[in-house]
Formats: sequence, C-alpha cells, structure tokens
Amino acid sequence: MKDILRELEDRRAIARLGGGETRVAAQHAKGKLTARERIDLLVDEGSFEEYDTFVTHRCTDFGMEENRPAGDGVVTGWGTVNGRMVYVFSQDFTVLGGSVSATHAAKICKIMDMAMQNGAPVIGMNDSGGARIQEGVDSLAGYGEVFQRNIMASGVVPQISMIMGPCAGGAVYSPAMTDFIFMVKDSSYMFVTGPDVVRTVTNEQVTAEELGGASTHTKKSSVADAAFENDVEAITEVRRLIDFLPSSNREKPPVRPFFDAPDRIEPSLDTLIPDNPNVPYDMKELILKVADEADFYEIQENFAKNMITGFIRLEGQTVGVVANQPMVLAGCLDIDSSRKAARFVRFCDAFEIPLLTLIDVPGFLPGTTQEYGGVIKHGAKLLFAYGEATVPKVSVITRKAYGGAYVVMDSKHLRSDVNYAWPTSEIAVMGAKGATEILYRSELGDPEKIAARTAHYEDRFANPFVAAERGFIDEVIQPRMTRKRICRAFASLRGKKLQNPWKKHDNIPL
Ligand code: HXC
Repeated sequence: MKDILRELEDRRAIARLGGGETRVAAQHAKGKLTARERIDLLVDEGSFEEYDTFVTHRCTDFGMEENRPAGDGVVTGWGTVNGRMVYVFSQDFTVLGGSVSATHAAKICKIMDMAMQNGAPVIGMNDSGGARIQEGVDSLAGYGEVFQRNIMASGVVPQISMIMGPCAGGAVYSPAMTDFIFMVKDSSYMFVTGPDVVRTVTNEQVTAEELGGASTHTKKSSVADAAFENDVEAITEVRRLIDFLPSSNREKPPVRPFFDAPDRIEPSLDTLIPDNPNVPYDMKELILKVADEADFYEIQENFAKNMITGFIRLEGQTVGVVANQPMVLAGCLDIDSSRKAARFVRFCDAFEIPLLTLIDVPGFLPGTTQEYGGVIKHGAKLLFAYGEATVPKVSVITRKAYGGAYVVMDSKHLRSDVNYAWPTSEIAVMGAKGATEILYRSELGDPEKIAARTAHYEDRFANPFVAAERGFIDEVIQPRMTRKRICRAFASLRGKKLQNPWKKHDNIPL
C-alpha cells in the first residue's frame, strides 16, 4: 500500500515540475510566473482542486510518443476566490510551449462544461504557442470545441481571459468571446497574424508589441479591458473583479458588508457643475462620491474615454455604471463610446446587475469619420442595449441631455425605472445656440436679435422642468442628495420583474 501511495506522490511531483527547472527558470527570466504559481495566487490558499493531472496526449507523429508530459501543458480545476467557486485553466508554457493538443483542449472543455452545469465563472490564463503543430487538424478540432463552449457559456457564467504570454492566430478567438480580457504589459500579445506575415503581405514593418501588445489592445483596438504591470497585479485585480460578479445567470451578484451610510450627504456635489456650461468637470468625481467607500472598478479605462464604464457597490450590492465624461470630447457619443457602453450594458443585463447611468451628453459627434465608420449602427447598439435591458435602471442627468443622445442614454422612453435630474440639467433637442441659428436663420446678420433669441431658448429649454412636467424625469434632486436618492431607488427596485417577448434571439445591429 505504501508503495502505491508513494508512486502516486512521485507521479504528482513529476507533473508539478511542468517542463522542468530550466524551462521554469526561462519563464521566470521573462518576468512570468508558471501556470501553477499563477493558480496559487488566483485562488484562496489551499482551495485548488486539480483535475486531469495525469492526462497525456495521444499523438504519435514526429516522435511525440517519446514526449508525453503529464498534464499536457495545461493545469485545470477549480478553487475559490474569497470563498466563491471559480473554474480555472492555466496554460503551462514550459510544457511544449503551452501548445494546444486535442487532449489539452479536452481538459479545458471539461472544466467549462462543469462551470456551466454548476454555475461558476471560468477564468482562463493564456500562455501558449497556439495549435500544437505536431497534431495538425486534431488541434484545430480541439480549439473548435473550446470556441463552441465559449459561445454556449456566454451569458450563463462569467468568462474571464487573462493573456499572460503569446496568444496568436485563431487562438485569439476563444478569449475574444469571453466577457473580459486582461493583458500583462510587455509579456503578452494577441494577433491574428504575426509581424512576419504582416510584413510579407502588406509590407508593413511592425513589432509584436505594436501589433498586439497590451497598450495596442487597451487603447486602440479595445480588444482588451485592462493591462497590468505584471502577473501578480493582473491576478490581484481579477480577484477584485470576481467579487463584483454573480457566479452565474442563475444567481444574484454577491452582497458584501459595507461601511458607508446609504444616506450619506455630499455637499461638495452642489458645486460640481461649473457656472459656464462649456467648462468640463470630472464625472469620475460623482461616481466615486456616490459609490460605497469610493470603490470603483473601471472597465476599459483607456479606451473611448468620453464614456466611463465600471462597477461600484451601493449598500453592498453590485451596480454597473455607465457615464458620459465631459472632460473628453465634451462627453459626446461616438462610435467607440457607443460600442464600449453597449457591450457593458449587455453584460450587466445578462448577469442581472442593475444599471446606474450618469448623463451629461451634448449629442453625437459630427463628421465624416463618424458617418463613414457607421456611427448610425454603432449608436444603435447602445440604444438597443438599453432598450432590451430588463434589470433595474436608474439615471441621473447632471447637465446636458440633448437630442438623440438624450433618448439613447437610458431615458424614460427606453423603460428606465427611475430618472433623476439635477437642477443644472438642460434637456432639449439641441443646445440654445444651434437651435436659434436654425430657427432664426434670417436674423443671423443681427447679433443682438440672435442673442435675445438664444437667451429666450435657454430660458425655456435649458432646464429639467419641461421634461419633469411631462413625467420623463421622475424628480429634480439636489446634487448633494444623489447617493441617498439612488440607493433608495435601487432598493425600491429589488423586486423588479420585467420580461421581453419570446423570441429565438434579437438582431442587435452588429
Ligand atoms: C508545438 C511548440 C509550439 C507549437 C512553441 N512550441 N509553440 N510546440 N506547437 N505551436 C515549443 C517550442 O518548440 C519549444 O520547445 C517550446 O515550445 C518553447 O518555444 P520557443 O520557441 O523556444 O519559445 P519562445 O522563443 O519564447 O517563442 C514563443 C513563440 C514561438 C513565439 C510562441 O514558440 C512560436 O512562434 N511558436 C509557434 C507559434 C505558431 O505558429 N503556432 C501555431 C499558430 S496557428 P522546446 O522543446 O524547444 O523547448 C494556431 C491556429 C489556431 O494557433 C487555430 C484555432 C482555430
């Protein structure tokens, strides 16, 4: 019996060594942790249950029968993050470059199936040379199986991808279908075709970092949601994110203890809006001042900065925040900000996370770049996302809410539940100057007359009361009372039930 137990431990020890000391040292020299070190940091101490430790590939080409490492280049299983279950796979670059064989893919599929069945998030730590070249089409089939599960799991359990090394070719499409992608600066990259192919086909000279590094994907392409300095920071931040999310679409998000009075009054908010309506202010200040303990988890911080998206808690409960940022492009809606916010709204709705929308939007950004880029379709994504969402929706207009953008940004007309406005709000078809220039074109030569017309328009429309008279705004509130009012609004909506008509699925303008 003792011998059998020892054999088990010996086999485990060999599996845990991964690709051996030299390759582990090479991994560390690149500033990267190993697959197992990453898991140890991600899950609560001692909580990891590994599966398929002894799985090996079945390839017999290219001498592969002589090289059958236990685990086949990926560590899989489940553990807990602050006591809540998560399924994890972590590719081991020290074993055959973390390349994906049929059996490697099957290990990932197994835990994805378990995650969907048992209702827990999947966190994938990607560090792989891609399809295992020796296996050919078997490897591609394995990828296809993973892709199919990504699609089936979408909206069922949260899926999080961490890119912690190479991720190239078709392999990028598994992370691309997950809810959040996080990258590590300088040690990770994602691209469909690498720099060499790019040079051959298009004559462009580009480095791997420029083509698909963390900066590219968080600032230009928006493929990734955030980039972190190193593995440790990335893992710590994913643990923080998990605390905001429900385990599946069958559960509500977790409720945490909170140490911040729901009726906290913030007198400083009364002076947040500058006297001059064209002077910007930082909408993040409002977010931080209403959130429990000023804790805000921002998503896509470095992309489309005219729109802010992220998670806060109110009375310990997760709330998704969508907010115009007047500091950038005056808070205009455009292609990028509409896409960014639409995806975020849909994530929240899929996982029953209530939505808070903070509005200061002068309209859609004009111009040929926007029109040729399809701002009509992209803006419609946000409109569609708000209109189909059935979660509790609360909004606050702080200043401008003009034209189509007023309707798009969680207006009453899209089934928003509670719509507040600050007294500084201006809710109208357009700004006073633009409006008078159209209405009184014949008087444009007379600046005095135009000034008088503008002042009259401002008097009539640059306030929240016309909308409030019609019930489109439920109440005009004092800025200092915002936290209290929205906490109470969400509390009143905890029993909300709203269902869309049956359909196979909708046809959101993609
Ligand atoms: C088998 C691989 C491998 C792969 C790396 N290795 N990639 N083995 N299949 N795809 C092995 C190497 O042979 C090496 O083994 C070890 O992993 C480490 O690789 P190195 O090249 O020494 O590491 P590094 O210098 O850091 O370079 C990493 C790399 C490079 C840039 C990822 O390995 C590389 O270019 N690999 C090939 C990438 C690729 O073309 N993959 C297929 C893409 S197509 P030893 O024994 O020497 O340590 C694809 C399609 C997916 O993925 C389609 C899905 C639908």
